[in-house]
Amino acid sequence: TGHITFDPGFANTGSCQSAITFMDGEKGILRYRGYPIEQLAEKSTFVETAYLLINGNLPDRSALTRKSVMLNDFSLLHEDMKAFYQNFPSKAHPMGILSAMLNALRSFYPELIDLEEDLNQTFLRLISKVRTMAAMAYKISRGHATVYPRSDYSYCANFLHMMFDNPVIPYQMKDDLVQALNVFWILHADHEQNCSTAAVRVVGSGKVNLYAALSAGISALWGPLHGGANQAVIQMLESMHREGFTPAQVIEKAKDKDDPFRLMGFGHRVYKTYDPRAKIMKKMCDKVLAILNIKDPLLDIAMGLEEAALNDTYFQDKNLYPNVDFYSGIVLRAMGIPTNMFTVMFAIGRLPGWIAQWREDALDPNQRISRPRQVYTGETIRDYIPIGDRK
Ligand code: CMC
Repeated sequence: TGHITFDPGFANTGSCQSAITFMDGEKGILRYRGYPIEQLAEKSTFVETAYLLINGNLPDRSALTRKSVMLNDFSLLHEDMKAFYQNFPSKAHPMGILSAMLNALRSFYPELIDLEEDLNQTFLRLISKVRTMAAMAYKISRGHATVYPRSDYSYCANFLHMMFDNPVIPYQMKDDLVQALNVFWILHADHEQNCSTAAVRVVGSGKVNLYAALSAGISALWGPLHGGANQAVIQMLESMHREGFTPAQVIEKAKDKDDPFRLMGFGHRVYKTYDPRAKIMKKMCDKVLAILNIKDPLLDIAMGLEEAALNDTYFQDKNLYPNVDFYSGIVLRAMGIPTNMFTVMFAIGRLPGWIAQWREDALDPNQRISRPRQVYTGETIRDYIPIGDRK
């Protein structure tokens, strides 16, 4: 059978060749298609960054306008999908709903997978509709009527509008907040072969349809060690606030090897230094709280916890630093996003990355079905024992 290398968690296995995202974990560098994340966060928009990831280059003005118009054109959802939604139990987690709904899109729009239309249009439909679906899930969970998108709003503004507008208290759109949402989604847009992206590629490699592959990505993202960490961080900070746990107590618990608890929002497979996204996110916390004139006690708790962890030899020796999820929940909370929607926010942001990686895989001449091997550790061979003779 040849020699098989055992590599738990694929930590040292390059599963594909990719020209999309570059990371240097030692130096804390992240670039999309060669552009530093810091420059994109400062100067780009989420729609432009999505275009960059999927198409390889920044769009010119006319391409960007065309794509933005199409994103608005595609933003409605089949009304029958609403009924589908309404039949989920009211306590259902929005990530489970989103994953199911994404798979269901294939049934509601079967013409899209026959690839009769340009694949790029399908990508835009997905990016537009997933955002609409997320806002709709929230509205339905509150028992409110869903809100239609507006053609005069940008992608990010439309999300806030669909989430928060209602006829009794119209939502006051704030440009600064729209910009903050752009940055939030840019920071999440891709991250090379993370768990959910690897899932999209692996599932896609069997030539399943795009919707099913993306639905698998959403399911993978849900886990608390991955995208679900943003929800877990806020729950951790809230319990510290509520119960009065000190940073030292939480850190001791995270260090205790008999306790499965980990310091959420800390550590990363690739980054052995400060996550460059977390640096930007931390600055955004201050900005968003200032725009909204909010004082969130969880921000002080988070900063105290970060400082205590960075000064602790356990975290220093293992190179554990804050990751993107450590401060992101505070930003989302300030925007009014409920905690159980945090990972959905991550998913909307990661969608262009999953699509770009799926596309790259589909076009790769070296692409083969993903089929890792194993190191077998079971019984060698034994004879069948009749049931009456078993001990
Ligand atoms: N708290 C306490 N100890 C930790 C933590 C933590 N957050 N993270 C890692 N360690 C320890 C771990 O116990 C292990 O110790 P030892 O060598 O003594 O066994 C050592 O550090 C190495 O950890 P690992 O689990 O082998 O590292 P990994 O690369 O397999 O896991 C991780 C990476 C992100 C899953 C992990 O650091 C973790 O569980 N962090 C908390 C969850 C979290 O914040 N996830 C979000 C990741 S960033 C967003 C995304 O892209 O998904």
